[in-house]
Amino acid sequence: PHKIIIDTDPGQDDAVAILLALASPEIEVLGIVAVAGNVPLSLTSLNTRKIVELAGRTDIPVFAGCDRPLVRDLVTAEHVHGKTGLDGTDLPDPTMPLQPQDGVDFIIETLRREPAGTVTLVPIGPLTNIAMAFRRAPDIAARVQQIVLMGGAYFEVGNITPAAEFNIHVDPEAAAEVFAAGVPLVVMPLDVTHKALTSRDWVDRMRDLPNRCGPAVAGWTDFFERFDTAKYGSLGAPLHDPCTIAWLLEPDLFQGREINVEIETEGRWTTGMTVADWWRVSGRPANALFLRDVDRDALFDLISDRIARLP
Ligand code: BDR
Ligand code: CA
Repeated sequence: PHKIIIDTDPGQDDAVAILLALASPEIEVLGIVAVAGNVPLSLTSLNTRKIVELAGRTDIPVFAGCDRPLVRDLVTAEHVHGKTGLDGTDLPDPTMPLQPQDGVDFIIETLRREPAGTVTLVPIGPLTNIAMAFRRAPDIAARVQQIVLMGGAYFEVGNITPAAEFNIHVDPEAAAEVFAAGVPLVVMPLDVTHKALTSRDWVDRMRDLPNRCGPAVAGWTDFFERFDTAKYGSLGAPLHDPCTIAWLLEPDLFQGREINVEIETEGRWTTGMTVADWWRVSGRPANALFLRDVDRDALFDLISDRIARLP
């Protein structure tokens, strides 16, 4: 199986990504690290444990990483995710503890312990923890198998500013360091995730599953949908973060190009923009597989099939 570390700021769509990973035998989750993003770290680290407990997987260690971006003040997104970061389904307070080890140190230790080239990082929030790990331990970048991340946008431009997607915008310095680290990158931008929209029918199917995870997913996506419907006028909630896990499971569902992607950190209007050289006009070497399309129906079949296997 793919050995992965999930780095996350739950987040309703983060929650679905975590459940999808935990439901999939092709994936071994070595640990989950929370980061500040959609809501502050105190909440993302709490929400992560609630989700893991919902899945009945208290054997998965959960860590807290950085509580703020490398150099900027934290920007949060309660307007999208609600006050708790996970509005829409109420879950009990977790009984499992947070691991005492710092989440960034867990990333470093795991990459040094496991054979080189066997651990995939899956960041689905701001890239602060990953950049911090590479700063503290420059030797580990060469040991990462690949980074499969949700972030950025090109044709779809921005969701938090006109030019930038949230995860990259919150910590552009971290993103710039990660994109320059020389690690193979797989990038799920809004171009893909705004095509991964829930349908009424699918949410109803989730709600009717005879387990507890299905109805939880229905509650979250229902909540999430309200925001996007108001903003974009589209029906359905975008399941951004689950696209990363789905790519590990079924890469053929997605299409994209190997291109150069640079992160804008100094723009007057464009800070956090992913400058994606889709037409290969820069001559700069490719550093990412930048995805653009997804087989939407197959994606949702995959997710519902897996969520049905959970408690
Ligand atoms: C990203 O930002 C967060 O709000 C979502 O969880 C996703 O990771 C989408 O821009
Ligand atoms: Ca997220």
